Amino acid sequence: MLGARCLLWAVRFCSSAPCPRHKPSAKLSVRDALGAQNTSGERVKVQGWVRSVRSQKEVLFLHVNDGSSLESLQVVADSSLDSRELTFGSSVEVQGQLVKSPSKRQNVELKAENIKVIGNCDAKTFPIRYKERHPLEYLRQYPHLRCRTNILGSILRIRSEATAAIHSFFKDNGFVHIHTPIITSNDCEGAGELFQLEAAGKIKIPEENFFNVPAFLTVSGQLHLEVMSGAFTQVFTFGPTFRAENSQSRRHLAEFYMIEAEISFVDSLQDLMQVMEKLFKATTMMVLSNCPEDVKLCYKFIAPGQKIRTYAEKRLFNWGIDLQTEHEKYLVKHCGSIPVFVINYPLALKPFYMRDNEDGPQHTVAAVDLLVPGVGELFGGGLREERYHFLEERLARSRLTEVYQWYLDLRRFGSVPHGGFGMGFERYLQCILGVDNIKDVIPFPRFPHSCLL
Ligand code: 4AD
Ligand code: MG
Repeated sequence: MLGARCLLWAVRFCSSAPCPRHKPSAKLSVRDALGAQNTSGERVKVQGWVRSVRSQKEVLFLHVNDGSSLESLQVVADSSLDSRELTFGSSVEVQGQLVKSPSKRQNVELKAENIKVIGNCDAKTFPIRYKERHPLEYLRQYPHLRCRTNILGSILRIRSEATAAIHSFFKDNGFVHIHTPIITSNDCEGAGELFQLEAAGKIKIPEENFFNVPAFLTVSGQLHLEVMSGAFTQVFTFGPTFRAENSQSRRHLAEFYMIEAEISFVDSLQDLMQVMEKLFKATTMMVLSNCPEDVKLCYKFIAPGQKIRTYAEKRLFNWGIDLQTEHEKYLVKHCGSIPVFVINYPLALKPFYMRDNEDGPQHTVAAVDLLVPGVGELFGGGLREERYHFLEERLARSRLTEVYQWYLDLRRFGSVPHGGFGMGFERYLQCILGVDNIKDVIPFPRFPHSCLL
């Protein structure tokens, strides 16, 4: 009771704003300033970075951007406010009046009364040049500065919108969000692509393991989600995932974000595929409606001539060797360059948790991948082996019985048919924006031989 009272008090305390004697200029983001309805001279303050400076005899024009929108705010000032410190890239605080702009290029502009340079920027040594469209490869050398360009700004805003859209999708559909651990003692995928974790300086002394057992950065939250699907019928997680794959390819990272879902009482791949499709569509629709300008910029500068495709349905049944990138590309092209579900993979190629289809000589498991144009595999998932004896046998064959006793327990106590999937978040962004290299859709890419910053 005391706790609840304290909480109420804290809420009240937080909401009682002090009453200033002098009304200061309202601080506005560039986005809010651009969308302002009231342009009858309201006094405002805008903070950001200078994107352009044009100095005329009597008037000074600036464009200021603060990352809230692709478009910058035009600031118009008397040339007496000009200073040598006002350069491309410098940070500024501008106070003035929001007025209707006489120009057709923008509705609103800020008539400056005061311009304060907060931080200088030497345009001569600044790696980002005024008015230059730098290639993405060039910008990759400057992970600490590239977010100041229009293109990275747009990609990162879209990334943020897509993150929110994914959370909304799951919330709207009744999923419970689970924080699965980043540090784990299992190798979910069994591929051995693990980063081992140990206290610095202790790596060579096994008996001094911090956790007593070898511990790793997670390759997937699936097994922890499966624990939760013994109590919640729909769960999801969305977090960083790590793979020590020695690949420099344009679609692999050592640290990437994965969206994973697990659904109980599901016994058909069709049901899973429906959720995958809905997630893709709902997220993409939300991104398109919430940041159309940013998406347009990506299509203008990154993927000329491409269009976002409607997610058409076409399913292929495939059996045989493991699919390499080239096979994936062929399948997608063969189906008319649209997303393609591939289902029922050979048992021998997939991890121990996949459900056995018991289908004779071919011997497949109920796995599903979604392949998309330009990227290849975007989703991986399937039905899980919920039958105790099948799973016990599979684990025994791989000599994993001991470590996965807890996983077998899930099949001993109230087991249910269930399944799920994982979607690579960066590959999703590559797919919808037509970005060729995965390193350009994550703020700080990590890959073999590179861990900048
Ligand atoms: O196909 P994967 O390995 O599936 C799993 O990890 C399952 N346990 C997920 C589940 O069912 N809960 O990985 C899922 C997706 C891939 O389809 C791909 O989009 C992405 O994760 N992915 C990577 N993205 C970037 N860099 C890498 N190195 C990736 N490895 C996988
Ligand atoms: Mg896969």
